[in-house]
Amino acid sequence: MKLIIVANPEAGAVRAAEIVIQQIKAKPASVLGLPTGGTPVGLYAQLAKAVKTKQVDLSHVKTFNLDEYYGLPKEDAQSYYTFMNVNLYAPCGLRPDQTHIPSGTAPDAEAEVCAYDAAISKAGGLDLQVLGIGGNGHIGFNEPGTDPKSRTHVVTLTQNTREANARFFTSIGEVPTHAMTMGIQTILDAKAILMLVFGSNKADILFDALKGPVSIENPASFLQNHPDVIVIADQAAGARL
Ligand code: GLP
Repeated sequence: MKLIIVANPEAGAVRAAEIVIQQIKAKPASVLGLPTGGTPVGLYAQLAKAVKTKQVDLSHVKTFNLDEYYGLPKEDAQSYYTFMNVNLYAPCGLRPDQTHIPSGTAPDAEAEVCAYDAAISKAGGLDLQVLGIGGNGHIGFNEPGTDPKSRTHVVTLTQNTREANARFFTSIGEVPTHAMTMGIQTILDAKAILMLVFGSNKADILFDALKGPVSIENPASFLQNHPDVIVIADQAAGARL
């Protein structure tokens, strides 16, 4: 595992964009796994800038998002589809056939999650999975206790996670209770992983994930078992490392 400490989230976004762009230059048809949340917003802005200034061509890339709220239509302002469309797809001119997110309104959720893993495999597997980390160590929506062998599945969100994500909704009552997420094994099957961690509120969980035991109590700790992981942390998040 390679740890890169940067001064602040802005510097982290620039460094992360360099790594993603390097991946795409090495393999223009790269398959990228992508996160939502506050953490990757700066990275997506950097990628949009690189597309506009023709530093990178994303027209052959395929993207698979980590997760989606279950029950929210894609047009909902709080859906992860909308988040991705606003922050990455539209600014980078990605076509609908390039992007994938589980459908939060699929009538058969089990069929949807199985089809998602199959689509990732059909695309050739994830070349680079970008991750954030939840305050309890969740990756995607794999909460503590998730089977490390899990593939894309439906999850019940913990109260902590719903509270953390309530900032994007008008009230906690509106935060969905369930989500669809790539499993821990789906994530670990990626050839390379880039995790971004910013802010002092992530310092303890990041320390546990990287230096603590590999345990289902901290889903991000399973990254210790992956051969090609880069972690970019700002000084606040990396304070204990
Ligand atoms: C959300 C997402 C995760 C994300 C995490 C951290 O619940 N499902 O993929 O990494 O929370 O979010 P943030 O980057 O806003 O701290």
